[in-house]
Amino acid sequence: MSETARPHDVMGEAHALTLDAADPLARFRDRFFVPVESVYLDGNSLGLLSVDAERAVLDALQAWKVKGIAGWLDADPPWFTLGETLGARMAALVGAAPESVIVTGTTTVNLHQMIGTFYRPDGVRRKIVATGLDFPSDVYAMQSQIRLRGGDPDGDLVLVPSRDGRTIDEDDLIAAMTDEVALVMLPSVLYRSGQLFDIPRLTGAAHAAGALIGFDCAHSAGALPHAFDAWNIDFAIWCSYKYLNAGPGAVGALYVNPRHVGAEPALAGWWGYRKDRQFDMVHDWEGAAGAGAFQISTIPLLSAAALLGSLAIFEDAGIDAIRQKSLDQTDYLIALVEGLGLTEAPYGYRIGTPREHHRRGGHVAIEHDEGAGIALALKERGFVVDFRQPDVVRLAPIALSTTYHEVWRVAQALREIIDTGAYLEVKASGPVT
Ligand SMILES: Cc1ncc(COP(=O)(O)O)c(C=O)c1O
Repeated sequence: MSETARPHDVMGEAHALTLDAADPLARFRDRFFVPVESVYLDGNSLGLLSVDAERAVLDALQAWKVKGIAGWLDADPPWFTLGETLGARMAALVGAAPESVIVTGTTTVNLHQMIGTFYRPDGVRRKIVATGLDFPSDVYAMQSQIRLRGGDPDGDLVLVPSRDGRTIDEDDLIAAMTDEVALVMLPSVLYRSGQLFDIPRLTGAAHAAGALIGFDCAHSAGALPHAFDAWNIDFAIWCSYKYLNAGPGAVGALYVNPRHVGAEPALAGWWGYRKDRQFDMVHDWEGAAGAGAFQISTIPLLSAAALLGSLAIFEDAGIDAIRQKSLDQTDYLIALVEGLGLTEAPYGYRIGTPREHHRRGGHVAIEHDEGAGIALALKERGFVVDFRQPDVVRLAPIALSTTYHEVWRVAQALREIIDTGAYLEVKASGPVT
């Protein structure tokens, strides 16, 4: 804002258009299929299809059509090593050595693989530390892995509670890392509030306590830079269907620190066998070098193909520029909500996401006691958002495809929905997702 600009100008539509005109990533929007007549703010849940991903899937279909089974070795790139090829490209995005990342499985399956492998209860060291605000699938996976080891989740799973219902105090996590803890398993970003954890700090604390530490990066991969090797985490898993735009249920990814190379996977499968001898078909396990050993099954080719296309966009745009715009847009959204007086009566919105950049992921949690009705009213107006119980409307401006003008528009809609009482009129026809 120039020194002569008046504060109210920053709230205006013209300012949004000025921001769009100056946006260095604006050109990427045209590479996405943005649903018509809607403002898509749900890329933190399901990313949009890109022209690049569509092309890559069509190319994979064509290869299948003309080559049949020969595509495993003859396609470009060969399907047989596609998990490794994609893993090496994904590694650049998450700050890891190429062989430390593999594209395989799905989020929860990879979680089971990693926890099964790296949760090694021994004597009194039997606990897993997680958060009381974790995504349910992570908790279910930890509970079942504890049971598989003969433990009792009631005693062995420590879900560190939130003090404010939306964030987790890192000091509380560190205090829970006692000498009874075998594994610390945390989200990088909390799915509801969008709180981003200080991963290096928590990693140092876990290691100092003698525990291993892994991260579920489903809500940070593709939204912000990572430095897995430098942070020295033990492992990570993430999905590619949110910020990475590889499509519904698309293949996931995992990272294993180089010091764990050679660790025996809890769940072995032939796809993790060393590639050069996989077709020897012998029954004695010999795992691939690096993260590849943790693959279980044949790579799902079509969703992996989509990721080939999608990653090209990230390589083009650069994750630092993506993060910068994401922070600018979430800052802008928060400033609009506050600047329009929406956190005051009669509006009553609350910002549930930390203000500090180093504690914020890619979305903004707008809380409201009438959040479910507000989310529905937003949807009626073409704003694609989601609602998470009990009171959170999640709004994710996506750096590659969302305009500042769209951010401005959703803030106006938040006001209008209260002004008109529209949130009271909408009738839920089913669960608000
Ligand atoms: C943080 C987190 N973990 C795990 C999952 C489960 O993912 P999947 O259904 O791919 O196993 C999700 C899904 O949204 C998630 O957000």
